[in-house]
Amino acid sequence: MEKTVVNSWNEWDPLKHVIVGRADNCHIPPEEPALDAKVPEDSDMRGQHGMRPLHTIDLANDLLDQFAKQLEARGIRVDRPTPIDHSLPVTTPDFHTDSQFGCMPPRDVLLTVGSEILEATMSYRCRWFEYLNYRPLMEQYFDEDPNFRHETAPKPRLTDADYRPDYLSEKIGVDKRLKWTAKKFFVTTEVEPLFDAADVLRFGKDLVVQHGFTTNLKGIEWLRRHFSEHRVHPVNFPGDPYPIHIDATFTPLRPGLILNNPHRRLPDDQRVMFEKNGWEIVDAAQPAHNTPPDLCYSSVWLSMNVLVLDPKTVCVEKSEVYQAEQMDKLGMEVVEVELRDAYAFGGGLHCCTADVYRESTCEDYFPNM
Ligand code: GLY
Repeated sequence: MEKTVVNSWNEWDPLKHVIVGRADNCHIPPEEPALDAKVPEDSDMRGQHGMRPLHTIDLANDLLDQFAKQLEARGIRVDRPTPIDHSLPVTTPDFHTDSQFGCMPPRDVLLTVGSEILEATMSYRCRWFEYLNYRPLMEQYFDEDPNFRHETAPKPRLTDADYRPDYLSEKIGVDKRLKWTAKKFFVTTEVEPLFDAADVLRFGKDLVVQHGFTTNLKGIEWLRRHFSEHRVHPVNFPGDPYPIHIDATFTPLRPGLILNNPHRRLPDDQRVMFEKNGWEIVDAAQPAHNTPPDLCYSSVWLSMNVLVLDPKTVCVEKSEVYQAEQMDKLGMEVVEVELRDAYAFGGGLHCCTADVYRESTCEDYFPNM
């Protein structure tokens, strides 16, 4: 097998090496403050926890294996995590929770910037040890690539002080949630830096980071100090009552072109950097589904959670026909991938992958600031 080189600076340059998650042993975690704020009030997930039904795990794994094979058939090297036992509790001096989550979405945990892979702080208690699923790969990359920088952000304490008690009520209602999120009154407080890797988009020298439920301003400030050669831009998307992870909201396809969720438009003042540099932000097509699959955390907007293989080629979930049609009109070749029955395990095609190598260099796409 070829030796590893870790290198990826953006979301669109030719993908050559990627991690694809696994659904093994995935659990619905018990209630905890950050998770409760995210699970939609009318969700079938409310009030239940424990291992997901085995037949759904098997089906999700079949789809993830099939996706990995599709990528390999295109010459892309695919690595897989080594699942830990997610039934085990997480206990620290500061908190206890009865189970963990899973390792289907490596994108949530691992942020690749150039030759670095950074393990995010995470902001859910059940995800505190999730990086362990990826440690065998990180160790292998460290041995094989002398330039690989394996980094980890400070582990957060995740005491109750990290979460606003206002979000503990089960019946807040979507109207109030929309008012709160528009005012950037999110579930996480500013006690310590918190971020999930899936709140970050990479545009070469610029990192765009969603401020929301899973990433706070201190987390964004930590990223700014850590990636001191980059410009780090906080963004937020009013219109999302459950704002976690940027990749069903804002999706760069190639230099100069981004899809934006039409229900969660980037505010005018935050568009300036894109407008000044000739980037077009277009509304994403409507999802093909009215509801997410059973026991799913995410919204129907996983339709736009696509994986770009190169600036002309994009993987789109097979049932998302409107999204595929739009990609075609935008001049992209569409690779259909069946994944909907794995969505419940942590997201779509972008979520279930993490970059290791794209043929890319660190470019400045925003020279006019
Ligand atoms: N933030 C993920 C979603 O829209 O479901």
